[in-house]
Amino acid sequence: MQRSPVRGFVSALPLLIAVGLVPGSVWAQGVPPSSAGATLFESKCLACHSLEANRIGPMLRGVVGRKVASAAGYEYSDALRRVKGQWDAARLEKWLQDPQSVAAGTRMAFSLPSAAERKAVIQYLASTGATGR
Ligand code: HEC
Repeated sequence: MQRSPVRGFVSALPLLIAVGLVPGSVWAQGVPPSSAGATLFESKCLACHSLEANRIGPMLRGVVGRKVASAAGYEYSDALRRVKGQWDAARLEKWLQDPQSVAAGTRMAFSLPSAAERKAVIQYLASTGATGR
């Protein structure tokens, strides 16, 4: 299986824009559908998370549909480990509004008060898929 260089470039776009290598106007040509969510992910989540690697928080690529607390090699809190089942949009919505309401005692000390922002970020996370886009 080969990864197309064009798709590789498109998926690298948010990063390239963030570091200023590609002008933001590229978005205006309508490339990715979830640019608002991607931008939010970068500004709100990237401090602790990345799509590809565990950092302060676990890696998040493909988290929608993934079993809770299952990123390989990440040391979850007992609070999150005790949560059964998978992440779906409804559970993520609750989580981003108030992580303690999903897993009392979790170490994620962050929430997104805006419903519109939660929705956009969840859509973005869903678009990242477990095996690429
Ligand atoms: C201040 C650091 C911080 C920020 C900012 C942050 N997180 Fe987290 N996140 C964490 C930590 C730490 C955990 C692990 C929690 C635990 O083990 O109790 C976590 C866990 C998660 C999980 C559970 C993943 C799994 O594998 O079960 C999701 C989903 C998540 N974060 C989404 C987000 C999103 C989306 C954002 C941005 C809107 C965000 N987080 C911002 C620190 C952060």
